[in-house]
Amino acid sequence: MSKTIFILNGPNLNLLGKRQPEIYGADTLDDVENNCRALATSLGFDIELFQSNHEGVIIDTIHRAREEAAAIIINPGAFTHTSVAILDALNAYDGLVFECHISNVHKRESFRHHSFVSSRADGVMAGFGIEGYELCLRRACSLLSK
Ligand code: DQA
Repeated sequence: MSKTIFILNGPNLNLLGKRQPEIYGADTLDDVENNCRALATSLGFDIELFQSNHEGVIIDTIHRAREEAAAIIINPGAFTHTSVAILDALNAYDGLVFECHISNVHKRESFRHHSFVSSRADGVMAGFGIEGYELCLRRACSLLSK
C-alpha cells in the first residue's frame, strides 16, 4: 500500500498568508507543507502538496491519486461550494478523503455552509487554522497504520 498522502489545495490558496489574514492567518502554504512533511516523516509517511486555481487540474490530480496516494486531504477553496466535478472525481477514488478548511465556514456567509465534498469525506475539519491540515494528516496516518 502506498505511504503517500496527497494534500490538495484549490483556488486562491497560493495567496495564503497574504489574502485576508484576519480570516486565514499569516501562515503560508509553504508553512503548511513544512509542518505536514515533518509530521508525516515522524509517522512513517510521505506527503505531496499541490495547489491549483484550476478545477480541471485538481481533478487530474485526484485521478493521479488513484494510483499514487493512500489518502487525500483536500481544501477545495471556493470549489467546495460549487463543484460536482470534484465530488465525482473523489467518488472515483478508493482511499481516505479528508476535507480541510482553514476558516470555520459555518460561521461565515450562508453560501459557504454547503459543501459538495463533505458527502464523500471520511472527516471534515473547519476553523482550526493551518493546524487543521496536521489534524487531518494525523487521522489519516492513524487509520492507515491499523
Ligand atoms: C476555505 C473556505 C472557502 O469558503 C473559501 O472559498 C476558501 C478557503 C477555507 O480554507 O477556509 O477559499 O476553503
